[in-house]
Amino acid sequence: MFATLQPTAGDPLLALMTAYKADSRSDKIDLGVGVYKDEEGHTSILASVKKAEAYLLETQNTKTYIGPSGDPAFGKAIEQLLFPAAYAAGQKLLRGGRVATSQTPGGTGALRVGADFIHRALPQAKIWVSNPTWANHYNIFESAGLEVGDYRYYDATSQSLDFAGMIASLQTVPAGDVVLLHACCHNPTGLDLNAKQWHQVGALLQERGLMPFIDSAYLGFAEGLEEDAKGINILAEYCPDMLIASSCSKNFGLYNERIGALTVIAASERDAQAAFSQINYCIRGNYSMPPHHGGAIVSTIINSSELRQQWQQELTAMRSRILSMRQQFTQRLAESGVQQDFSFIAEQRGMFSFSGLTPDQVKRLQVEDAIYIVGSGRINVAGMTSSNLDRLCQAIVRVLD
Ligand code: LMR
Repeated sequence: MFATLQPTAGDPLLALMTAYKADSRSDKIDLGVGVYKDEEGHTSILASVKKAEAYLLETQNTKTYIGPSGDPAFGKAIEQLLFPAAYAAGQKLLRGGRVATSQTPGGTGALRVGADFIHRALPQAKIWVSNPTWANHYNIFESAGLEVGDYRYYDATSQSLDFAGMIASLQTVPAGDVVLLHACCHNPTGLDLNAKQWHQVGALLQERGLMPFIDSAYLGFAEGLEEDAKGINILAEYCPDMLIASSCSKNFGLYNERIGALTVIAASERDAQAAFSQINYCIRGNYSMPPHHGGAIVSTIINSSELRQQWQQELTAMRSRILSMRQQFTQRLAESGVQQDFSFIAEQRGMFSFSGLTPDQVKRLQVEDAIYIVGSGRINVAGMTSSNLDRLCQAIVRVLD
């Protein structure tokens, strides 16, 4: 049956993870996969998560099925994070009942279910992603049968956002298509839109009849929980319909629990319920129902003022540490006398930056120094610590020479 089948090339990021694990050098540095590490280089379980799990262990009394859309309490918790102002204003039916959320296995699960839903509900629609984007977006959308195009986003010469290019590209996208946007902490560039730019994009999408699909994998990692949701809320002012894929991997540190959510906003309550039922039909035909545990942790935290406060403090600590590493890294490289200007790294947000290192330089760092970086030059700043920074900067200075 499979005699002529060839193995796939595989995902280079997963290959990098495997190579890092297999490397026996004790001073190895992992700046590859997007996982947060603390000052000791550990990806620890958050204390708020531990407390929520202890509470769940005490109080849970069933492991029965939870249905395709998951736990409604989790869905409401996610909507609170996405639309903080509406919740604070005490809106009982958020946006007049136009919002509905399904629990999914991770943010990737949300993107895939969203893609299946688009393929089913809008069979003519093509999806447009930023150039560059998270490499797995292509795999996810093409696996669901969607055609993928790209729009300009990054100016490699100035290592900055090419906003004029982005607008020019989006102006050519046909009506009825879908545009994938990163809510914050753009992966892989670390370059986000400001409020004015979000308004411009919102007005353009509305004028051209395009639907946004927002990938929100790093909420709370750029400027703060509310600040990071501003793009989503601005777009919702302009666009009657949108999809949002949330991940709880990074901001709750729940990577291997695979917990995320797909939120739909539609023009009316009727439309939202129709879309919600179609989304849940896609889920039923795929993995039937999501696992429960990760969502229960998140809703326990969000619905307890004590745990929520603790979680927000932990999230702030992660964000501040990354920011501090960005600044220290930039400063050390400047002090080392390298010709290149790396100051852009301090201005970017989230885990990632495009370092400008070439594939050859990246390879040398891996072979000669046990420093693991994605071939595109994307570095995970969250993998830097005060104790590995000197060695890292010295090695970079050497390969740049
Ligand atoms: C990354 O880009 O490193 C993360 O989103 C992890 C992944 O699954 O690729």
